[in-house]
Amino acid sequence: MVTGAAGFIGSHLVELLLAAGHEVVGIDDFDPWYDPAVKRANLTAATANARFTLVDGDLAGGPDRGLDADRLTDLLTGADVVFHLAGRPGVQDSWGAGFAEYVERNVHVTQRVYEAALAADVGRVVYASSSSVYGTSSATGGDRSTAPVSPYGVSKLAGEHLAGVYRVRGLSITSLRYFTVYGPRQRPDMAMHRLFRATMEGGPTFVLRGDGRQRREFTHVADVAAATSAAGWRPEADGATIDIGGGSSVALREVIDLVEGIAGAPVRLRSLPVAAGDPPATVAEHESARRLLGWEPATDLEAGLASQWAWHAQPTSADPSVASGSDSSLVAD
Ligand SMILES: NC(=O)c1ccc[n+]([C@@H]2O[C@H](COP(=O)([O-])OP(=O)(O)OC[C@H]3O[C@@H](n4cnc5c(N)ncnc54)[C@H](O)[C@@H]3O)[C@@H](O)[C@H]2O)c1
Repeated sequence: MVTGAAGFIGSHLVELLLAAGHEVVGIDDFDPWYDPAVKRANLTAATANARFTLVDGDLAGGPDRGLDADRLTDLLTGADVVFHLAGRPGVQDSWGAGFAEYVERNVHVTQRVYEAALAADVGRVVYASSSSVYGTSSATGGDRSTAPVSPYGVSKLAGEHLAGVYRVRGLSITSLRYFTVYGPRQRPDMAMHRLFRATMEGGPTFVLRGDGRQRREFTHVADVAAATSAAGWRPEADGATIDIGGGSSVALREVIDLVEGIAGAPVRLRSLPVAAGDPPATVAEHESARRLLGWEPATDLEAGLASQWAWHAQPTSADPSVASGSDSSLVAD
């Protein structure tokens, strides 16, 4: 079972699981935060596979395609693993009134999924957490305590705390803290997507927040899907919380240079002051993923960016719209 199956990361995970021979049920409510047509396109390969079933439903319940608790438990019954990726991502939209959606989609929905997984006696839940739970502390190397600096980070950390609560009830949950994910199908609010579009004829201008020296650990989506799949079954990963990082922390300026080289055109830039909630650097801890998942990242940044550029060049990736209007997002995850 993959929740958020039509999203950026979820759709890659579905394809990986299908390629490994699994039966996969995907749940997604096609949240219009960004164009649902893009999400439908993400599932093109999966829906052509007879071992894939799509449930178009809202994990929060509610009147519009809402999955009530019994239906959710029925859906989860028989699943070996629930990969819980559904949620509302993005840092900047979590400020102000936007936070209500983050509470609903990241906190309430996660509690409902754990509750149903417990009732359905699911073998393992893998929870998609985020480097945002660290705030500024992941950059220091030493402390690495959780101290989010955005409401989004708080909502993802709440999902980790709920995991702790349901572990006590006997549910096996593994939390993965993804560090800024990129690659084909990247969400339209994310930096690399915006950068590539800002090299294109008639594309929008990229809003650079700060001086471009902010560093992020960028992680290719194929590597993230592989780590997530491993977390579903590896006995060592039971109950663990693990950083999933691409291997090196790179300044946004360097990314801009790489994007310009790959696209063969300059990025149109507009500079604004740094945005609240964007930490100056994120750095993953790599040893736990190696030890507990037998995983390490395999895609270097330049090759990964080239794979994303190839996707942007396809007609199906053409949608530029960001329903949220969060054009100031720097490196949201
Ligand atoms: N992309 C990153 O860099 C990154 C980094 C850290 C953590 N994460 C986490 O990974 C997960 C996937 O992120 P993504 O980038 O693929 O985002 P995404 O928005 O592309 O995918 C999330 C999917 O969940 C679905 N969804 C949301 N609420 C739902 C609900 N109530 N019921 C059913 N479906 C629902 C959406 O329609 C969407 O298709 C999220 O939980 C996000 O917080 C992502």
